[in-house]
Order: sequence, then C-alpha cells, then structure tokens
Amino acid sequence: MVTSSQKILVTGGAGFIGTHTVVQLLKGGFSVSIIDNFDNSVVEAVDRVRQVVGPQLSQNLEFTQGDLRNRDDLEKLFSRTTFDAVIHFAGLKAVAESVSKPRRYFDFNLVGTINLYQVMAKYNCRKVRTLPTFLSRPTFNFIIMVFSSSATVYGQPEKIPCEEDFRLQAMNPYGRTKLFLEEIARDIQKAEPEWKIILLRYFNPVGAHESGKLGEDPKGIPNNLMPYIQQVAVGRLPELNVYGHDYPTRDGSAIRDYIHVMDLADGHIAALRKLFTTENIGCTAYNLGTGRGTSVLEMVTAFEKASGKKIPVKLCPRRPGDATEVYASTERAEKELGWKAKYGVDEMCRDQWNWAKNNPQGYTGKP
Ligand code: UD1
Repeated sequence: MVTSSQKILVTGGAGFIGTHTVVQLLKGGFSVSIIDNFDNSVVEAVDRVRQVVGPQLSQNLEFTQGDLRNRDDLEKLFSRTTFDAVIHFAGLKAVAESVSKPRRYFDFNLVGTINLYQVMAKYNCRKVRTLPTFLSRPTFNFIIMVFSSSATVYGQPEKIPCEEDFRLQAMNPYGRTKLFLEEIARDIQKAEPEWKIILLRYFNPVGAHESGKLGEDPKGIPNNLMPYIQQVAVGRLPELNVYGHDYPTRDGSAIRDYIHVMDLADGHIAALRKLFTTENIGCTAYNLGTGRGTSVLEMVTAFEKASGKKIPVKLCPRRPGDATEVYASTERAEKELGWKAKYGVDEMCRDQWNWAKNNPQGYTGKP
C-alpha cells in the first residue's frame, strides 16, 4: 500500500531519468525529496516537474541543492527526515570523459555513493530486535535502496540477449564505477541483511515526457546518439556521425536496446513496490530494456519520420570500445517486478521530438 506518507529520497532527481521518475512517483502517491548538485542539470527541470504534476501534487515534493560527496549535505537531510527508501541516480555518465578524468568519476560516483550508504545506515537503520525464541525471530526495519546501474556492466556481451547473471565486466572508468558500486551493494547487503537493494540496469534511455516539458538536456556536445540526433534536427549541429557501418548487422550499424524514459521511470516504481512487499529480496539486479534491438540507422529513420526533418549522416569508423549488438533479456523484470516496457521506437522519437521542438535550446533556452 502506498500512502503519501511514504517518503522517497531521489538523488540526482533533477536529471534526465530523475525528473521523469519523480513525476511518476508523485503521481503514484509518494512524497519525494530531491537532492541534486546541478552538475549536469538545472533548477528549471525541477520547476518543470512541478508544472507537469500540478500544484496539489507539488506539495509532496521538496528539493535540496546538495552534493553527495559532502557528507554534511546528507547529514542535514537525513537528520530532519526519515526516508522510507532512496532512489539513487546521482552520478556522472560520459564514457569518454571518464577515460580522461577517472578521478572525477571515482570521486562523484564512488565517494558520493559510499557517503550515501554511511548516512543511510546511520539514520535509516531502525533495527528492532526481539529476543529470539522458538516462536519469534529478530525483526528488522529494512533500509531500502534502488540503484541506477547500467547495461555497461555487461561490457562486450558474449551472448545476447543479456541476462542478469551473465559475467560482468567493465570497459572504461565510468563502467568500472557502476560495476564497483554493484559489488559494493552486494557486499553491504550480504553483511547487513537489513538492506534491501534493487540494481536496475538501464539499456539506452531515450524519449521524453509526453507533455514536451521534460527531456534530456546534456551540457555541451552530446555523447549519446539520441540527444545528438535531436540537436541535428533543431539545427544546433550540422550532421550526425554514424560510428561504424561495417558491423555484421542488417544495415552495418550497431544495434542497441532503446527504452522510453517513461517506461524506465515506471520500472523504478515497480522496483520500489517489490522492495516494500518482499522480505527476502536481498540485493537483486534487473534489466530495464525492451528486449528489442534497433540499429543506429533505423533510429535515424524513425526520428526523421517523427520529426519530418532530414538528418544528414556521415558514415565514420567505429567508436572504440563499442559493442556490435546489445539488448536485454526482460524475463526477470517481467516475472518478478511485473513490469514490461510499453513503448516502441516510434513513440520514443515522437516524444523526444515534441520535447526538442518545444525546447530547441534545452531548459534554459540559452544556446
Ligand atoms: C553509452 C555507454 C554506456 C552508458 C550509456 C549511457 C559507451 C561504449 N557506452 O552506451 O556505458 O551507460 O551510453 O547512456 O559509450 N552513435 C553514433 N553517433 C553518435 C553517438 C552514438 O553513431 O554521435 C552510436 C554508437 O556508436 C552506438 C549507438 O549510437 O552504436 C548508441 O550510442 P550511445 O547513445 O552513446 O549509447 P551506448 O554506446 O550504447
């Protein structure tokens, strides 16, 4: 049962996936507290969340500017509020930047998350012990966390679709932070069974909120395919470099599992409900993908169809470290979370174009 007295802390809640998830949490009856340092987001995004959910539900949203690397920011938050669960998005995610600035990635992603665990353990651990007898056993108040992981932990998968118990590997410092953080979560949960943790491995999140008010707004030149295509469509960039046209795929370009960000947001609600209702979940990983692969050139065609804009492409050599084909096995999430992606590539492109045409320069309107 969800009541608005269930309060969820969302770290990185002003970011792309964060904002969309916060909307679904508020609509689902939760109270939300966001902490974000605006490293790759803007305060306007939080205002847009309020516009989307309306004044009534906005009363269940509070927001703090803070940085997880600064333990005091977390102490302040946790000492005044008892959270029922934490959804942890805050972190950096640009692969190339992580190669040139690994310390930055270890600092933001590892130090930030370790601080979060320490403070959650200190304030949220309300263990109630009863004397063990034949009839009763120790009872716990659980500490609940949903962690934002990535398909990057599969590295170059030997087989597809990717199943959650495949061997994990990291290809770059960003990927290593996700892999380490998964291992840290497993270690903590094993040693301290009061933790209940779900690791959500996102495939390629794209699309935007149907209102056209929320979407992805990366700072600088986008690293990822869809924000890049979007900026070509609105005239901010001249053409798309297609990295690799000689892959052994149907059209020579690489294949990924693109998932609508609203499906992804709903995956977090499903994960929370699972955590609130399952005692022995431990630390479990779930893929959030559609289970379908789409090539880069197919994505370009779908976006052209949705936007009515021509996307000029330049066929370029492969990007180092890229896999040929990656898509998710969705069986575990379907079976255990009761969650399945609803949207296809056409809806992803439709909603992303709606966001782009209404906000050609992103949230701030500044080029
Ligand atoms: C990338 C990261 C992954 C991370 C995810 C975050 C790598 C190797 N992987 O996934 O770790 O979790 O982003 O969202 O970087 N492409 C182009 N032109 C472009 C941009 C991309 O052709 O300008 C191609 C890529 O070569 C790839 C596909 O589009 O085949 C998707 O790329 P991208 O959006 O960067 O996602 P991933 O590489 O799958």
